[in-house]
Parts: sequence; structure tokens; C-alpha cells
Amino acid sequence: MKVVMLGAPGAGKGTQAKMIAEKYGLPHISTGDIFRANIKGGTALGVEAKKYIDAGQLVPDELTVKILLDRVSQPDCEKGYVLDGYPRTIPQAEVLEKALQERNEQVDFAIDVNVADENIVNRMSGRRACLKCGGTYHLVHIPPKVEGICDACGSELILRDDDKPETVLKRLNVYHEQTQPLIDFYQARGVLRTVDGAKDKNEVFADIVAILG
Ligand code: AP5
Ligand code: MG
Repeated sequence: MKVVMLGAPGAGKGTQAKMIAEKYGLPHISTGDIFRANIKGGTALGVEAKKYIDAGQLVPDELTVKILLDRVSQPDCEKGYVLDGYPRTIPQAEVLEKALQERNEQVDFAIDVNVADENIVNRMSGRRACLKCGGTYHLVHIPPKVEGICDACGSELILRDDDKPETVLKRLNVYHEQTQPLIDFYQARGVLRTVDGAKDKNEVFADIVAILG
């Protein structure tokens, strides 16, 4: 099963993708997490990606597409995967579609996690993230068991550099301009499903499970 998570920054794509990956035994692939791991590791890719990410812009398609295609060709992706944060532009979706078509495959579900812009900034300022395993928490809504420590892997939680309110507003604009058109793209292919991301995280997950089966 191949699942694409759509939704604005902070809609809960990562939170839900992790839960889906666990329940269905699929790899969770977040291009944002891949970039952040490279930034932390000081790789050439990380240095390049950081310029865009800190400005709230998208990393150019040429870089992103290559990383994604490399990742989904790994053996653990044979049975499917959950994509979180890819595609983010129509050209990215077209590259993925073409690669899948060559194997007679397709995206099975594109889940749009729908949250109004007003809720987003508040969520982001309270977010704490684990750079090691991609775990995501919220100081108020979804706190870790021990403050500042990831429940899943015990690493230190951080406040992401791109979660400053002014950068979040830029990311939201970029989302509306470049990523929202993907809703129509997947609707036209009959695989779009929309869930209300403003509900509690477990309720959102139950809605997603009802869709995925
Ligand atoms: P990325 O890491 O993908 O960030 P994003 O899309 O902006 O999304 P976020 O990770 O911020 O939010 P999310 O939807 O995962 O929400 P989360 O579950 O954390 O990308 C970062 C940057 O990398 C991009 O800006 C871009 O520069 C670059 N990039 C990445 N992929 C790219 C691509 N394909 N092409 C080009 N550039 C790319 O939840 C948010 C908060 O809310 C958390 O605190 C969480 O605990 C809380 N929360 C979650 N669900 C609920 C709920 N139901 N109720 C209350 N709180 C909740
Ligand atoms: Mg995320």
C-alpha cells in the first residue's frame, strides 16, 4: 500500500504518518526528516537544503526528487510506504507517478489532513521534534512522558528552526501556492480522501484507519 500524506505545515502529517507506518508495518518516509538529518550531519545536501528550509521555501525539485526516488527504491519499500511531505509540487507528483507507472503501480491513497490556517501557528510554536526518530510532540496537546525527551527513542527534543511564527506564515503561503494544487491532482486520480485534522490525534487516526481498511 502506498499512501501520500497531504496537508499544510503543522496539519499533523508526521504525527499520523508515524501511526499509519506502525499499524500497517510500512516505512515512514519524510523528506523533511531526511533534510533535517542531513543538516544535523553537516552534509553538502544539508548545507544546501538549510538555506531554503530556514527561509520557509521549498527545497528545489531537482534535489528533492532524487532523494525520494533513491529512498523508495530501497528493499524495505517493496511492500509500500507512507510518504510525508512528498510530493509538494505538481512536478514532484508527476515524477513519482511516472516511476510508479514503470512498475505498474500507483499511489493508493492521498490523505489530506485538513486544518484551518488559524490553528497552525499555535500548533507549531508548541511543537517539539525528535531529530533521531522523527517523533513529534506538542507541549500542551501531545506532551512527551518526560519533558524534553522522546518517548520512543530517548533522544533530546528540539524546537525546529523553521517553527518561528514568521517562518510558519511563509510556509503556509508556500503551501497554498505550490502544494494545495495536489489536492486536485489526486482527486482527478480518484485516490483523494480528506480527514478533519482539527480533531484529537487518535480520532484523526481512527478516521484514517476507516479509509485505509
Ligand atoms: P516538513 O518537515 O515536511 O514540514 P511541513 O510540511 O512544513 O510539516 P510539518 O512537519 O511542519 O508538520 P506536520 O504536518 O508533519 O505536523 P506534525 O505532525 O509535526 O518540511 C520542512 C521543510 O523541508 C519544508 O518547509 C521545505 O523547505 C523542505 N521540504 C520537505 N519536503 C520537501 C519537498 N518534498 N519538496 C521541497 N521541499 C521540501 O504536527 C504539528 C504539531 O501539532 C506537533 O506539535 C504535533 O504534536 C501537534 N499535533 C499533531 N496532530 C495534532 C492534533 N490532532 N491535535 C493537536 N495537536 C496536534
Ligand atoms: Mg512533519
